Amino acid sequence: EKQGFKHYMLKEIYEQPGVVRACLEAYFDTEWSAAKASSPTKIGLSDAVLDDLQQVQIIACGTSWHAGLVGKYLLEQLAGIPTSVHYASEYRYSASPLTKNTLTIGVTQSGETADTLAALAMEQERRSTLSSGFEARLLGITNRPESSLGHLVPNIIETHAGIEIGVAATKTFVAQVMAFYSLAIDLTYRRQARSSEALEQLLDGLRQLPAQIELILESQERYIEELAHDFAETQDFIFLGRGINFPIALEGALKLKEISYIHAEGYPAGEMKHGPIALLDAKVPVVTIAMPGTVFEKVLSNAQEARARDARLIGVTPMDEQEAADTFDTLIPVPHVDEILSPILTVIPLQLLAYHIAARRGLDVDQPRNLAKSVTVE
Ligand code: M6R
Repeated sequence: EKQGFKHYMLKEIYEQPGVVRACLEAYFDTEWSAAKASSPTKIGLSDAVLDDLQQVQIIACGTSWHAGLVGKYLLEQLAGIPTSVHYASEYRYSASPLTKNTLTIGVTQSGETADTLAALAMEQERRSTLSSGFEARLLGITNRPESSLGHLVPNIIETHAGIEIGVAATKTFVAQVMAFYSLAIDLTYRRQARSSEALEQLLDGLRQLPAQIELILESQERYIEELAHDFAETQDFIFLGRGINFPIALEGALKLKEISYIHAEGYPAGEMKHGPIALLDAKVPVVTIAMPGTVFEKVLSNAQEARARDARLIGVTPMDEQEAADTFDTLIPVPHVDEILSPILTVIPLQLLAYHIAARRGLDVDQPRNLAKSVTVE
């Protein structure tokens, strides 16, 4: 069943190009161009759900919460809708005020996470006490539409990841992020927040992602496996990113914690100087995601601050960026891509890094200690 892979997690990492293709098929009009008068997306949500939104709130746990953070960036930067992201376990005891035009999105791959379900049930209850028409603005993003979540909410975007067995979420994360691209692009089109040409460019970029993930897997996996040898004794890791890649820094750190039991923290690179930089020394590797775009120079200068503390600097960055090559001790190259699409690529090497460090330590990658695939208790 593992089809020759040593662990389900590695098999699932390799399934990601296919998952992105399946999501593209399901969510987008693949023939779409700026000349067409119709929507570029086909996510099947009605006007009652998506029109006249004033705000979006996203509720999730763990990796799904990270996908929500990428979603926030897309909804705000593309569609221009104020968006907040909440831990379900917090939200259920301290809900935000709602308006009639608030869309609430629960993200859960399993559709069975107790905290997420409880927070959404609460939202549904609150809505039913408000004026009519309002109940529609509740949406689930899940890999299992037949789950408890599917029964709870009136609208679903299904993520097309196929069943995921490894406790560490990989392909379901990428599928959730794809769902957010489709939702954000749908809303951007509805609100005419970007030109058709800009949307066409974005769609072209999305279509190239599967082949670009394949390229990373083909060209980087052996190298990352080798690199993992260097961290046999490492006890702490820092992951840095900014903007749309800040959630990927969090996700890289979570993957490593979960399966290798190494302490890891993800930080927005600009926050390092406000405290965490005190942790750094030669024993703490710093993995920085540095993709050309709005914060590229900023991230590189944040990484240089870490260099001054003797930390080993590992950069997830395009190959031919001289300034990045000069900044980092070790490069993990990813293809050049529009910054807004980059999380789908930058997460791949971080999944591989976590996987190979854990596998090298001889740990039970697919079933790490103290963790279950879905957390059905509060
Ligand atoms: O099934 P869900 O997406 O609701 O699960 C949420 C978290 O429990 C889950 O993402 C967890 O953090 C993963 N093990 C991360 O790899």
